[in-house]
Amino acid sequence: MARATLEEVPSVPMPEGLVVRPIGLDEAARRQVWDASSEAFRDHRGEAETAEEDWAAFLADPRQDPALWLVGFDGDQVAGAVLGLIDPVENAHHGRERGVLASVFTRRPWRRRGLARALIARALVRLRDHGMTGAYLGVDGLNPNRAMTLYSSLGFEIVSQSIDWKKPLPPETGVKPPVPTS
Ligand SMILES: CC(C)(COP(=O)(O)OP(=O)(O)OC[C@H]1O[C@@H](n2cnc3c(N)ncnc32)[C@H](O)[C@@H]1OP(=O)(O)O)[C@@H](O)C(=O)NCCC(=O)NCCS
Repeated sequence: MARATLEEVPSVPMPEGLVVRPIGLDEAARRQVWDASSEAFRDHRGEAETAEEDWAAFLADPRQDPALWLVGFDGDQVAGAVLGLIDPVENAHHGRERGVLASVFTRRPWRRRGLARALIARALVRLRDHGMTGAYLGVDGLNPNRAMTLYSSLGFEIVSQSIDWKKPLPPETGVKPPVPTS
């Protein structure tokens, strides 16, 4: 889904008791956000368990810039976050200035209080402040928490679609695949 402009971003209040705090380059703070994301995404269809190699890859990704992250805290707990990202190579290739909402999550105890909505609105403004003129994100149309509804209500529109085909593997079903006959 894409938001064609970053104008007219609604002003959404943070849920009571939650605050946005900057993360900076402190590795422990970044790890806290990453761990919170791994936990929240267990509720996302087809999401693989994360491992230490994934953390290392995330840390080494030069596009990950905590200045574009909006992290909501409840005391010292990460309640949720929206990780904005700018890919200058991709933007140059397409001749555009489009930011990405690479990850949107709220941990279970803080859901349905408007946190994701409030953080997305702030993340769009942050991307605009960094020179972007539009935003993009990927979403599973079958998201059980109706993420598409949330994004639509914030001005995102479907720009392309793909279909995942799912097939159980033999060890999962215990059934051997049929032997092809000529
Ligand atoms: C999707 C997710 C980010 C929503 O976070 P949240 O903070 O609970 O969202 P909000 O409270 O801001 O909800 C905004 C709107 O989303 C929709 N929504 C959110 N959760 C919903 C649910 N369980 N059922 C139906 N609608 C839901 C509603 O339209 C809601 O507005 P409303 O409360 O006024 O009806 C959260 O459920 C999550 O982290 N899920 C796991 C990770 C994930 O799927 N991330 C999105 C990847 S694209």
